[in-house]
Amino acid sequence: MEIIPFDDRDGQIWFNGELINWRDAKIHVLTHGLHYASSVFEGERAYSGEIFKSREHTERLFNSAKILGFEIPYTIDEIEAAKLETLAASGHENAYVRPVAWRGSEMMAVSAQHNKIHVAIAVWPWPAMFGPDSMKGIKLDIAEWQRPAPNTAPFEAKAAGLYMICTLSKHAAEAKGYTDAMMLDHRGYVAEATGANIFFVKDGAVHTPTPDCFLDGITRRTVIGLLKDRQIPVTERHIMPDELDGFEQCFLCGTAAEVAPVAEIGPHSFEVGALTTQVATDYNNLVNRRAIA
Ligand SMILES: Cc1ncc(COP(=O)(O)O)c(C=O)c1O
Repeated sequence: MEIIPFDDRDGQIWFNGELINWRDAKIHVLTHGLHYASSVFEGERAYSGEIFKSREHTERLFNSAKILGFEIPYTIDEIEAAKLETLAASGHENAYVRPVAWRGSEMMAVSAQHNKIHVAIAVWPWPAMFGPDSMKGIKLDIAEWQRPAPNTAPFEAKAAGLYMICTLSKHAAEAKGYTDAMMLDHRGYVAEATGANIFFVKDGAVHTPTPDCFLDGITRRTVIGLLKDRQIPVTERHIMPDELDGFEQCFLCGTAAEVAPVAEIGPHSFEVGALTTQVATDYNNLVNRRAIA
């Protein structure tokens, strides 16, 4: 696989208030965000030039920063405009949009009361997250790492530090030939995948874990709305891993993942059934501003 490093591409990145050359969007090695994970970010998708639920993502970015104890030095409207400016400059109509905010270099210890807050926005093409065959159903490992308890990590923030165990779990899964991993939470309940929320189907009804210690994704909430529009019952509840055998279908959802059917989780198999395919189609129509039949 040919890898084009992300720091060596053509284009422009919005960096602290202006678009600059992609390769010049650099930070110093002594940056608090790098050493102490004082960084929050968003993952968004533009479809035909329009960013899906853009404002909700920007609001979450600001809230994530607030949870980490810092304030983004722009208004929500300014970041909204900056995202559109960066998207337009990219020349892409369909793309992934990545705003990120972090603490700078003024203080380099645990205390970071006086660090400048930096913000950048990059846009790049990112087709199906799990590859072109993902609609056949992906295979998930069961991660050894568990989502931490709410009093041990600020789980409502989309914060860099929370991804440490996601990368560890994803790498462990890939080493075993899986595409991704399903993570349990600190109590042993089913939580989510390493970058997407999870849903199960049984007897025409949908079950999904209560987001009480992991990100309540914008796509998750969108999918619940789509299911309700179709009068499909959705239950948010705690799900034990020993229930997996009783579910017929499973799918992941997230901005990058969109709706991705799951064929296997460890020893458990699922069919890519009609309900999952329907949700994927409905989501696709919604984000592309097509009527939902
Ligand atoms: C860990 C994790 N859970 C869930 C999600 C889904 O969130 P959203 O639908 O807002 O993209 C993501 C993606 O951002 C994620 O990284």
